Amino acid sequence: MTTETPVCRRLTGRTAVITGAGSGIGLATARRFAAEGANVVCADIDESAGKAAAAETGGIFVQVDVTDSEQVEALFKTAYETYGSVDIAFNNAGISPPDDDSILTTGIEAWKRVQEVNLTSVYLCCKHAIPYMRRQGKGSIINTASFVAKMGAATSQISYTASKGGVLAMSRELGVQFAREGIRVNALCPGPVNTPLLKELFAKDPERAARRLVHVPAGRFAEPTEIAAAVAFLASDDSSFVNAAEFLVDGGIAGAYVTPL
Ligand SMILES: NC(=O)c1ccc[n+]([C@@H]2O[C@H](COP(=O)([O-])OP(=O)(O)OC[C@H]3O[C@@H](n4cnc5c(N)ncnc54)[C@H](O)[C@@H]3O)[C@@H](O)[C@H]2O)c1
Repeated sequence: MTTETPVCRRLTGRTAVITGAGSGIGLATARRFAAEGANVVCADIDESAGKAAAAETGGIFVQVDVTDSEQVEALFKTAYETYGSVDIAFNNAGISPPDDDSILTTGIEAWKRVQEVNLTSVYLCCKHAIPYMRRQGKGSIINTASFVAKMGAATSQISYTASKGGVLAMSRELGVQFAREGIRVNALCPGPVNTPLLKELFAKDPERAARRLVHVPAGRFAEPTEIAAAVAFLASDDSSFVNAAEFLVDGGIAGAYVTPL
């Protein structure tokens, strides 16, 4: 597992905006980006968690609701005005609420809320990050999708899955559109990660947890640091020819027919 402090400093002097930096994958990535030398802009709706992330990583905190166009625009403006560039956008904030379930029981309000936070937010973040990157002639955008954008689950979260499919398609198209301007856009597809979001879901439904774990060849869920290591690769020039990709970090789930005993 990638728990040690990384020795490489691939992001020195780069400015990275991370949404959902207060917790889970976003927090682990803020730590990793900072360890690799980046100026970290920690964006979150949760003020105390976001402030703590910024303090720990030596970056700045911007309170933002990623569903609000004006707030998202202000986020990237603040990043640019503070550090002079916007080199990396990790558009990662997302929700997985319990009222998003089977299509038979999920109401329209629950559906809409998940679409707003998980998909519209990525549209807004890309819309407001790309102009800075075009001016620089360089940039790396990583949008958090999920392995459920690639595979169906009978234990459905219908709006979540649909939102992540949207993130995948949008990332692919943006990666193609802006490739010749030096901007790469990739979709990160994590498998289940040991984070508060998943812990909350599975604490309510241990049977659902067990049903999922059996499909992971690695026999365990990912640690946030393992996802952060993949994000740092996508953010850095080490991935300079990786674009419009569906970047799976799933412990082998998508490749499995049966799992080892
Ligand atoms: N945990 C998993 O197993 C898993 C697997 C695949 C994909 N993902 C995706 O990874 C991303 C991060 O998930 P996580 O597990 O780290 O979640 P988390 O709940 O630990 O962290 C999410 C963060 O986003 C913030 N946030 C929520 N709504 C927001 C809003 N409207 N505006 C700004 N910030 C907001 C929260 O305050 C929180 O700090 C999500 O997009 C999630 O769908 C997670």
